[in-house]
Amino acid sequence: MSPSTTPKFKNPRAKYNFQGRTCSISGVGSYVPARILTNADLERMVDTSDEWITSRTGIKERRIAAKNEFTSDLAAQAALRAMQRAGVTAEQIDLIIVATITPDMPFPSTACLVQRKIGAFRAAGFDLEAACSGFIYGLEVAQQFIMSRTYDTVLVIGAEKLSSIVDWKDRNTCVLFGDGAGAAVLQNRPNAHGLLTAVMGADGRKANLLFMAGGGSRCPATAESVASGMHYLRMEGRETFKNAVQAMQTAAEEALRRCEIDISRITCIIPHQANLRIINAVVDRLGAKPEQLFINLQKYGNTSAASVAIALDEAVASGRIQRGDLILMVVFGAGLTWGAAVIEW
Ligand code: UT7
Repeated sequence: MSPSTTPKFKNPRAKYNFQGRTCSISGVGSYVPARILTNADLERMVDTSDEWITSRTGIKERRIAAKNEFTSDLAAQAALRAMQRAGVTAEQIDLIIVATITPDMPFPSTACLVQRKIGAFRAAGFDLEAACSGFIYGLEVAQQFIMSRTYDTVLVIGAEKLSSIVDWKDRNTCVLFGDGAGAAVLQNRPNAHGLLTAVMGADGRKANLLFMAGGGSRCPATAESVASGMHYLRMEGRETFKNAVQAMQTAAEEALRRCEIDISRITCIIPHQANLRIINAVVDRLGAKPEQLFINLQKYGNTSAASVAIALDEAVASGRIQRGDLILMVVFGAGLTWGAAVIEW
């Protein structure tokens, strides 16, 4: 076999170019609301300081959606940008997957609301809930539909209005989160570059580390549930931190192993943007170099399912990712859930 025809990825579990089909990312886009909430603004709201937030998290500011701007609005804006870059029309989209923990309402799904806003009336649509891991879960689900020949064009969106479930009196959490959306158009492109593998994992035994108790069947909204703050997210920060580092390391290593790729070959690592200290610890454990990282959490904080989707779009738009580059995305969130994806751009 001549060098040019030697397959790069020998492991059959890497679904790349499976039977001539590739799950290719043909366009990405993102959207963040205009309003900026700085650490200085938070100093006036709770007992905190820019110094504490910056040194413990790396976050300097975050975006907050307007009162009349909902998750579906952020999602639709990101989707339209991704579709434009991909050169696909609304009629071409077969399926819309929206990863979110802050849907506009419990039902109908935010995916259906987005379908209406972008006019993709041929598309099926559903929401996917894997918290901060949602975008990678979404990529994997989309890949399965594309590789099984069920669909050719899938829109995957990570979108959140976390400001709607943050307790603005709780300094432990309110400094961490922000609003935004990122989207990707995934298409079957014969023998093209694309998603090589995606890993997903979960551990429901640790569901108590990060949750919102109110609003579901266990605790529907009542005057008491609202008064006791059950409709806000709560987090056990330190334990979540430890689990995040471990799970992200494991997921990243599994994704690389499946593709038989050494970390040194990755041009750009896009980790979940929750905390700079978590990111640095994961990179250290993976034996990667800080220069391989793409970080934008200083501008947006933790946007949960939107986090790596926004970062991917910004990395591409800024020229940080070039055609042919290998990208590693790695995520962690409530559930607990985690995941990683390797993409040849
Ligand atoms: O996206 C899903 C995944 N989420 C994550 O991965 C987040 C994981 N956790 C974290 O990022 C970190 O645990 C936090 C940033 C949330 C907290 O950092 P930490 O270094 O783990 O701090 P801590 O929770 O151990 O708290 C240290 C101290 C406490 O005071 P005492 O008890 O030592 O007196 C807190 O009350 O810092 C205090 N503190 C604050 N002080 C000023 C907590 N929040 C604040 C604040 N400003 N905003």
